[in-house]
Amino acid sequence: MAKKYNHKNKASNRGDIVKHIFLYLLRGCIYKYADVHSGYYSYSLSNEFNRFKKMASGLDLDGYFKAQSNGYLSSHALMKHFNPCSLVMYLFDICSEVTDSLRQEYAAWDEIHIFNYAATKLEIAKYRPEFVLLDPPGFKSKSNPKYPCVTDDILPLLESVFELQHSSAMMWIPLTKSLSEKRMIPSEACQNNVSLLGDALCDEMVAFSVDFKDWNQAIGTFIGCNIYLSSNMYKYANKEGIDLFGKMSEICMAVGWDFKRLF
Ligand SMILES: C[S@@+](CC[C@H](N)C(=O)[O-])C[C@H]1O[C@@H](n2cnc3c(N)ncnc32)[C@H](O)[C@@H]1O
Repeated sequence: MAKKYNHKNKASNRGDIVKHIFLYLLRGCIYKYADVHSGYYSYSLSNEFNRFKKMASGLDLDGYFKAQSNGYLSSHALMKHFNPCSLVMYLFDICSEVTDSLRQEYAAWDEIHIFNYAATKLEIAKYRPEFVLLDPPGFKSKSNPKYPCVTDDILPLLESVFELQHSSAMMWIPLTKSLSEKRMIPSEACQNNVSLLGDALCDEMVAFSVDFKDWNQAIGTFIGCNIYLSSNMYKYANKEGIDLFGKMSEICMAVGWDFKRLF
């Protein structure tokens, strides 16, 4: 039987931190936010997070570390933390344990809408979020049949964001190596999904990759992650003086990760 995805085991790992730093840098630009693979409200702080915090001290991330001081906030909780009064959110997750707990956490907030099913194109068209985070746990496979499929689930959601014009998206995907190989290259299945995404998104999004050179120290088969950000949001950030590429390069260099722009 397929194992249920449990983000509690993975939250506050280095891939999660990469995604958060992007969101942290973009925090002033987002007011109507959808998270289509939302996960729980918060998690425990990991040793990896503490190690990152030590190595990245002095890099002007104080606001981020302060937000994460009493536990590790998820992406949507982080967004709420930075925009406590003005944020409208749409949170989707297929796991009812997750959505039940979110309903309790956000009970006091009328502007936070929680759905216990997978978001569709129609949903995005109806709620018109300004910013959509796609944070799939991985992609559909024999061992994970409920995970989203790039062609049937992920690309249609992104298309509906692009159709909205005023909206932008960020997607984070994990890069994992094959269990049978010791080399640090993504598995064939992972590479296939990455190239499918690259072919479909290179006109609308800017893509980055982070490779964890010391992946075998702590995290098994998880060797890096890719971040895809709408070109419109990337241009907007640059115009606002938010140097995403420069800042991420500086942070990754400080902690020994490789950061590069893919397209
Ligand atoms: C990586 S976690 C989300 C972490 C969260 N976005 C954050 O940044 O803290 C992935 C979540 O996606 C949910 N999930 C898995 N397959 C899904 C699907 N097809 N549609 C929506 N949610 C899904 C899982 O239940 C899990 O809670």
